[in-house]
Amino acid sequence: MKLIAISAMGKHRQIGLNGDLPWRNPEEYKHYEDTVRGHFLIVGRKNYESHKEDIRIGKPLVVTRNPNFRPECGAPAFQDVESVLDYLKKENVNRAFVIGGEGIYSLFLPVVDEMLLSFVDYDGEADTFFPEFDQADWEIVKKEDRGSYLFCHYKRI
Ligand SMILES: NC(=O)c1ccc[n+]([C@@H]2O[C@H](COP(=O)([O-])OP(=O)(O)OC[C@H]3O[C@@H](n4cnc5c(N)ncnc54)[C@H](OP(=O)(O)O)[C@@H]3O)[C@@H](O)[C@H]2O)c1
Repeated sequence: MKLIAISAMGKHRQIGLNGDLPWRNPEEYKHYEDTVRGHFLIVGRKNYESHKEDIRIGKPLVVTRNPNFRPECGAPAFQDVESVLDYLKKENVNRAFVIGGEGIYSLFLPVVDEMLLSFVDYDGEADTFFPEFDQADWEIVKKEDRGSYLFCHYKRI
């Protein structure tokens, strides 16, 4: 089973502002939707709550510290990485996506196998960021200028 983080970030790793994306980039957003559609999506409770409708594009697995949290859509909730991984193993899937936000990227990055990162031309304000990672741990297997964003596919070395 491959665990894949997918994110879009600005010039300084910005990913969010006031619960939303800091920019509008329909081309990049379509790439995100096309990539994750139908798959298990590991999502932070905050990201889930502010984008419930959008996240229905896949099968959300919500991560929260609150053992009593019950997502309205009936999706399962988890308190730690191990229980998410156990669930995915039982489901016997070949891939699942870590879709953020910051808290959940930070929590899962150590166990992520691949990253699909979009770099957008945004230099403005943000309150959430993609975690720093050591480039030496990763190989870029694909790099593509897609006009409104630069797409990079990383695999852990
Ligand atoms: N640009 C992108 O690609 C992208 C992608 C996704 C999201 N975003 C943006 O990111 C922002 C949201 O990020 P965020 O960091 O505020 O929220 P988040 O990661 O979506 O959710 C944070 C929540 O996850 C739970 N959590 C965090 N660490 C945990 C741990 N160690 N164990 C168990 N549960 C844990 C907690 O839930 P409880 O409080 O319930 O305990 C925490 O409040 C939004 O602005 C969103 O638009 C951007």
